Amino acid sequence: MEMKRILSGIKPTGAPHLGNYFGMMRPCIALQEQGEAFYFIADYHALTTVRDAADLRAHTRGVALDFLACGLDPARAVLFRQSDVPEHTELAWILSCVTPMPMLENCHAYKDHVAKDRTPNHGLFAYPVLMAADILLYDSNVVPVGRDQKQHVEVTRDLASLMNRLYAKSAPIFTVPEASILPNVATVIGLDGQKMSKSYNNTIPLFEDEKPLRKKIMGIVTDSTPVESPKDPAGSTIVALYRLFASDAEVAKLEEDFRAGGTGYGDFKKRLFDALWEFFRPMREKRAALAADPGHVEKVLHDGAQRARAVAVRTMERVRAAVGLR
Ligand code: TYM
Repeated sequence: MEMKRILSGIKPTGAPHLGNYFGMMRPCIALQEQGEAFYFIADYHALTTVRDAADLRAHTRGVALDFLACGLDPARAVLFRQSDVPEHTELAWILSCVTPMPMLENCHAYKDHVAKDRTPNHGLFAYPVLMAADILLYDSNVVPVGRDQKQHVEVTRDLASLMNRLYAKSAPIFTVPEASILPNVATVIGLDGQKMSKSYNNTIPLFEDEKPLRKKIMGIVTDSTPVESPKDPAGSTIVALYRLFASDAEVAKLEEDFRAGGTGYGDFKKRLFDALWEFFRPMREKRAALAADPGHVEKVLHDGAQRARAVAVRTMERVRAAVGLR
């Protein structure tokens, strides 16, 4: 059987958070054992919102460090910076020439923007086309993502099929990919109970310092049930987040203590903090070691760019020939 190609990306728009970790980074790391994996830092995508060059560079390095600290193994998976492979933008242009406008008008990031009366830039509108290029360039079979990216993978599938219909002679030009979404972590919730997202300002970053992190956890929004009263674990943000780190038995115990009454939300938040802090301890130590070697991340990304580009260049030869660009 042929090796599966696994591919996913993450935007360097800030510090990776629990949603990114459970929805994408951890599944990506698990899948690196099961095929040829390509993971990239989507800096072209981040340009739709980030307006400060130093910020973009710092976030790009931060995402790479976090991913490596969490267990991405650069000997197995190719980790690269999207902009090191300019073929992504070339393929995006070719795809955009067959993309029906209504397909993009229907995409939620763009629709949300318009609904909020904000003027979207063209990059935001065309974003799903660039994402399709990212995926199709590597003949990807599996794309591990959170639920919010499902629609974008569907656009990718539509564009791959459309290109194959329009241009394929003997063999199809593109592989039609599948999203891989883990149901229990498809949408990790944030401090306020909404989906965890940098744009909602409700995130829990993986490697924040102890004090500010503790403060964030203590700031989780709860109802005003008094300490002595029983509390409902169903629908509690504390319980939902605790479930990410704790065993079934530990979750059952927390739920029992909720129902029993006599414990305040502050104490439950402390338990959540301790579980989270312990969970990331080994990764935090690894991150500190990696960060102490400033050349390491650059070397990994440079290496990754060469391995990614070798594949991308070959795909583009095939695509250019198919559409008549030479
Ligand atoms: P981004 O940077 O917003 O998020 C990276 C990954 O994290 C997942 N995620 C979540 N999962 C569960 N719960 C949450 N609260 C949560 N928040 C974020 C996202 O679903 C995503 O998988 N467009 C992509 C980046 C991208 C990409 C690609 C992904 C560009 N090209 C090609 C796959 C293939 C994005 O903005 O992800």
